[in-house]
Amino acid sequence: MKTLFSGIQPSGVPTIANYIGAIKQFQTMQYDYESYFCIVDQHAITVPQDRLKLRERTRQLAAIYLASGIDTTHSTLFIQSEVPAHAQAGWLMQCISYIGELERMTQFKDKSSKQQDGISAALLTYPPLMAADILLYGTDIVPVGDDQKQHLELTRNLAERFNSKYNDILTIPEVKLPEYGARIKSLQEPTKKMSKSDSNQKSFVSLLDPPKQIEKKIKSAVTDSEGIIRYDKENKPGVSNLLDIVSVLKDATVESIEKDFEGVQYGEFKSFVAEVVVDELTPFQERYEHYMNSEELDHILDKGRDQANMKAQKMLTKMENAMGLGRKRK
Ligand code: TYM
Repeated sequence: MKTLFSGIQPSGVPTIANYIGAIKQFQTMQYDYESYFCIVDQHAITVPQDRLKLRERTRQLAAIYLASGIDTTHSTLFIQSEVPAHAQAGWLMQCISYIGELERMTQFKDKSSKQQDGISAALLTYPPLMAADILLYGTDIVPVGDDQKQHLELTRNLAERFNSKYNDILTIPEVKLPEYGARIKSLQEPTKKMSKSDSNQKSFVSLLDPPKQIEKKIKSAVTDSEGIIRYDKENKPGVSNLLDIVSVLKDATVESIEKDFEGVQYGEFKSFVAEVVVDELTPFQERYEHYMNSEELDHILDKGRDQANMKAQKMLTKMENAMGLGRKRK
């Protein structure tokens, strides 16, 4: 069976963009692969985090994975910092990365430009750690949103570099983007991607927002003055974004939604979008509450940690042997 790996940072409560771009795919794809889902808390600390909030979000994210249908009788769910091989292999990957290629990463440029000073070195070396996450499991496929494509290309380059320099042991992973909704946009600035760490709360719908708040946020989404519900990413990014959201959640084509809403005002369309999102999230939030309030969550994470450790440690040993680190081990 081939292997699937994906991760989410506990840097904020996941949004509908994370859900549409990544999480929704996990649930359907998991059974076709040996699947690993990771809460990447070590990635989250590349920018400052409040320690108590980080811990709470880590737990929330575990419950969110479970509420979205990750089945841990089949798949492994775990926390990155509880599997030391990630940081260890991350170091190995840093040693074969070039500063120039890391400086070219869009996410590094974006995030470092937002901070005045005190930019952590880890913001630059984030992609080698992400490569380690993926490569430790012999991963074949990585379902992610569009913003992670560049990191995946780098991961492939690093794996190829390692294989040709040392020993041919790393699997070259493929990226898997969703057919629709790979880049959901901010509700307030629809040319920017929606992000869970955006300081403007109105720019995103979090998976844990109560229905009233979801309605309010969607009703205040920025659109345009044309007054026609038509898909045109270039000239009508706000309306197109809402169409993308509805089309994925309703599993309907954009054309059919455009047709249904011919001649309808934006206000009415937005109410419909809000209803679709609330209908999707209400049962999801009920499942989330169940996991957050059960002891099961910790048992699942303990089991996940042990399974991930076993798998990752084996690959780490192979990598260290290939690079001549320590004494040769089996
Ligand atoms: P993160 O935590 O920012 O996002 C989690 C997942 O959500 C997707 N996503 C989006 N999809 C559609 N529209 C958007 N606006 C949007 N914003 C985010 C992301 O593409 C991602 O799939 N570096 C990763 C975490 C990571 C990882 C990994 C992922 C660390 N190691 C190994 C895969 C494999 C990140 O910051 O995702």
